[in-house]
Amino acid sequence: MNVKRIVLFASGSGSNAECIIRYFSKNPMVEVICVLTNRRDAPVLDRCNRLQVSAFYFNRYAFFHSDAVLRQLDGLAPDLIVLAGFLWKIPETIIHRFQGKIINIHPALLPKHGGKGMYGTHVHEAVKNSGDTETGITIHYVNAAYDQGAIIEQVKLGVTAADTIAEIAAGVHALEYEHFPRVIEKVLFGDK
Ligand code: GRF
Repeated sequence: MNVKRIVLFASGSGSNAECIIRYFSKNPMVEVICVLTNRRDAPVLDRCNRLQVSAFYFNRYAFFHSDAVLRQLDGLAPDLIVLAGFLWKIPETIIHRFQGKIINIHPALLPKHGGKGMYGTHVHEAVKNSGDTETGITIHYVNAAYDQGAIIEQVKLGVTAADTIAEIAAGVHALEYEHFPRVIEKVLFGDK
């Protein structure tokens, strides 16, 4: 049985990470090996404890100025690395080693509202301030440029001028929970 191995990266709350872990806990062909985080106090660590999934913290030096994380990933031998709310740019050494095996979710319809500094509430504020009538989620491969890798799937959400930023955020999160695990499955196994 060739079980597919997923490594998750998360920096914050980790609600997507939890959703992905729960989704694949029912699939014997997929294992979420562990979660890696760059924040020692990230709430995702509590979720991992609760869900009985291993989690590891690394600091800026390990990530950007050593090959510690690269070596850890080599040892973990993931079929797919999933960025689920991970806020640091992935070093080229890791991108190069795991070419085509790293995906990210962005809480808007790229290429709109992407790039450095565009994360979390900033994205939803930008959507509101631009008067956009739709937003959504983009799941894409990760390459060396922020938010510019090939798009795998986008799902849209209509917005109106009356929507608050919190409402937009909630709508986008709901789409993420509904679609991200399914798209990961599709990337691992192809279209069924
Ligand atoms: C999500 O909105 C995701 O699109 C973005 O960061 C957020 C992470 O939320 N990249 P959570 O930590 O999964 O709750």
